[in-house]
Amino acid sequence: MSAATEYHELVRHLVAALNGRRIYPPQHPVLDRTLSRLEQALHHLMVSRDEVQLGVLGTRLLADGLPWQDQEEPLSLLSQELRARGVDKLTFQRGFTRADLDSLLEVLSGDRAVAGAGILDAVPVADLLAGRGVSRIRLGHLDLEKEDASTLQTATPSERGAYEDAVSGLTDAMDCARTGRFIRTRQVVTLVENLMEHLTRDPAPLLMLTALKSHSDYTFTHIVNVGILTIAQAQAITHNTEVIREYGVAALLHDMGKVKIPPEILDSRARLSDAEFEIIRRHPIDSLHLLRETPGVGDLSLIVAFEHHRRYDLTGYPALPRQVPQHFASRLVALADAYDAMRSNRSYQREVPPEQALQIIQQQSGKMFDPLMVRLFIRMMGAFPPGTRVRLDTGEEAMVLKAGPEDPHRPIVRLVDGMTSEGDRLRLVNLSERDPKTGNYLRSVTCSLP
Ligand SMILES: [Fe+2]
Repeated sequence: MSAATEYHELVRHLVAALNGRRIYPPQHPVLDRTLSRLEQALHHLMVSRDEVQLGVLGTRLLADGLPWQDQEEPLSLLSQELRARGVDKLTFQRGFTRADLDSLLEVLSGDRAVAGAGILDAVPVADLLAGRGVSRIRLGHLDLEKEDASTLQTATPSERGAYEDAVSGLTDAMDCARTGRFIRTRQVVTLVENLMEHLTRDPAPLLMLTALKSHSDYTFTHIVNVGILTIAQAQAITHNTEVIREYGVAALLHDMGKVKIPPEILDSRARLSDAEFEIIRRHPIDSLHLLRETPGVGDLSLIVAFEHHRRYDLTGYPALPRQVPQHFASRLVALADAYDAMRSNRSYQREVPPEQALQIIQQQSGKMFDPLMVRLFIRMMGAFPPGTRVRLDTGEEAMVLKAGPEDPHRPIVRLVDGMTSEGDRLRLVNLSERDPKTGNYLRSVTCSLP
């Protein structure tokens, strides 16, 4: 069974179990059966991974970071259910129990007889679930609270809209490439302009949205993340909007040649053979050919498509008969691509924690990547990039909002652990703050959280 089919089965059984929970009394044999099927669907998926994640982006349901093309009834039903409860992510981790699943259904089906009348309106469902001692199933929010976005500097509906538009625009472009129709270049340019506008105002919220995990390197979230990370890097280097726009378009189009790779190779969970690797290594040339035939695509997009797997030290692929340095734009895209790929949780590779991903990038400075670009990238992202959940030495949990202005290891965070010691809920904290009496830092990051 392919991963897509397994995810489909999971959603089908999840919707059935949720409906059953509303219709039948607890302990009813029908409920028991639907729960078993749901459990089995999850175990199937977990044969090859430790974590299974469903996400909601706009009206679309994401599985493994990939939006379904046809949003059939069970899929749209589930995305509506989750959205109605303010849930963007539903994560199952290996080791969950049947009792955990039962609690999830109880919370999602809004069983007020158990939860207490009206409580669902006041308490986020994620807290209700955690309050039942469930740690292996998590409900997440990208914009965790409905507080004043301008002060919290987190993703506003408009920023999320720009991100979602970019994902659906990319879906469309990939469809065109796959079916031999022309990619609508003008549409891609508009998406880039929209992302640029938000990034100019404040890069932090969109950088936070890139923490939406892309689970495969041909998914739309991955491509949009590469686009955002490339535009943000370009904006740190130049104010020339025309140049930045060209870089952004090149980033969104650079991997189009992947539509020529058979899905069984892209989707493969097994170690690829040499012949299969050879097919994958053809995609820069396929991208070049495809984009060269597309009206309105500029030379820079062709260059980046061809060069994005070449390296700063002049190695990489496709091999060239003479030593030609990578174009500046290709260096930015290569860095963005590698970083987001490391952050993704794929069937063949576990997600690398952000601080480790940045460390690997640093180690590759002067080899894979341009040292100047590496320095700029680290400064832009900080040691803990926006969107990273971190544990503090006070025991509190926080979400990084933006890199610290003074020290990359001391970002500005939002506490998400409920009440703080000062009694404020979900307070914004700069980790550079010191105790005025002792001079010691008030809080420090101890580690990032998965
Ligand atoms: Fe690529």
